[in-house]
Amino acid sequence: MARTAIAPTGVEKTFHPDQIIVSKTDRQGRLTYVNDLFVEISGYPEAELIGKPHNVIRHPDMPRSVFWLLWDRIAAGQEIFAYVVNLSADGSHYWVLAHVTPTFDATGSIVGYHSNRRTADATALAAVTALYQRLATEERRHANAREAVEAGCRLLEQELAEAGASYDEYVWSLNNATVTGAAA
Ligand SMILES: Cc1cc2nc3c(=O)[nH]c(=O)nc-3n(C[C@H](O)[C@H](O)[C@H](O)COP(=O)(O)O)c2cc1C
Repeated sequence: MARTAIAPTGVEKTFHPDQIIVSKTDRQGRLTYVNDLFVEISGYPEAELIGKPHNVIRHPDMPRSVFWLLWDRIAAGQEIFAYVVNLSADGSHYWVLAHVTPTFDATGSIVGYHSNRRTADATALAAVTALYQRLATEERRHANAREAVEAGCRLLEQELAEAGASYDEYVWSLNNATVTGAAA
């Protein structure tokens, strides 16, 4: 990555539940479109974002295994809902519940990807943060990136199997629990 690493400040940013942070990418994950809210919350000028890999807003706390799962899904032509914490240019962070989908051309080939992000509920995030910390800790035990991803994916699979849920079911159980007020 050719950019200078930004040190997270621990300051959290939020946005309104009615707002959506939108980005579109090419097949390689390079940004082709960002909406005004993306520009505002990321803290980068639009001209600096377009053409950059989407990891320009990657937060170091995000487990590699979650992005592996995201790419595995969307490259196979499927959608995914995922909790993601992103890093702004000023070192602050913001949590989102992202809905990432492939975009197809008339022949059915994937031509890019699209992400719509909404706010994530605090109760859901308490559970997600704890899970992601366990995954990131497991991944950091491995110096080799590939081994780190594999170890993170194994732990994620194990935790989901114990919970009897797929990742999507897990995501929605958290979301619904907070929407309906049911216990998480
Ligand atoms: C449509 C789309 C949206 C994405 N949104 C994000 C995002 O909000 N934050 C993020 O860190 N990565 C996002 N990614 C994943 C990045 O492409 C990348 O896999 C991730 O930042 C990990 O980067 P790394 O492999 O360099 O560690 C998105 C990818 C696509 C295709």
